Amino acid sequence: MLTYLGPPQLPSDDKRWKIVEATARRHGREPHALIETLHTVQECFGYLDDNALRFVATTLRVPLSRVYGAATFYHFFTLKPKGKHACVVCTGTACYIKGAPALLAAIDKTYGVKPGETTPDNELSLLTARCLGSCGLAPAVVMDGAVLGKVSPGEMLGRIEKGIRHDH
Ligand code: FES
Repeated sequence: MLTYLGPPQLPSDDKRWKIVEATARRHGREPHALIETLHTVQECFGYLDDNALRFVATTLRVPLSRVYGAATFYHFFTLKPKGKHACVVCTGTACYIKGAPALLAAIDKTYGVKPGETTPDNELSLLTARCLGSCGLAPAVVMDGAVLGKVSPGEMLGRIEKGIRHDH
């Protein structure tokens, strides 16, 4: 028989998993918290990927198929973007005040993409999140999983360019 041994292990020490776990915990880690927890993942990460969906399934003890079902059924969820690289700009209050709009404008000007879009060559997807859990580092951006804090448009564009060039 399986015994429930407390909260599942977080996938990494990324602080955002703690925020996701807190949502699940608030709902007693019960299956009915599925939509709410997926919302939190999307708010923190900008999209849902396989890793996150598995974590949610384990935390709430819901079959992975059901988690995938919910993630793909509701239009307000975004699955992992199709670009080879993903840049998530935080547009939460702290980041917004400290310059998120200028970051989005710089990406739009350079790559011609708005939030939710991918460049035609599939190199870069741009996403937004409502809080990356690093408000002290506002404005914050996550480029291919790496958090860039107190980032200027120029620095951010440099990191994006480096990420894209790296594969060529
Ligand atoms: S508002 Fe951007 S990290 Fe919290």
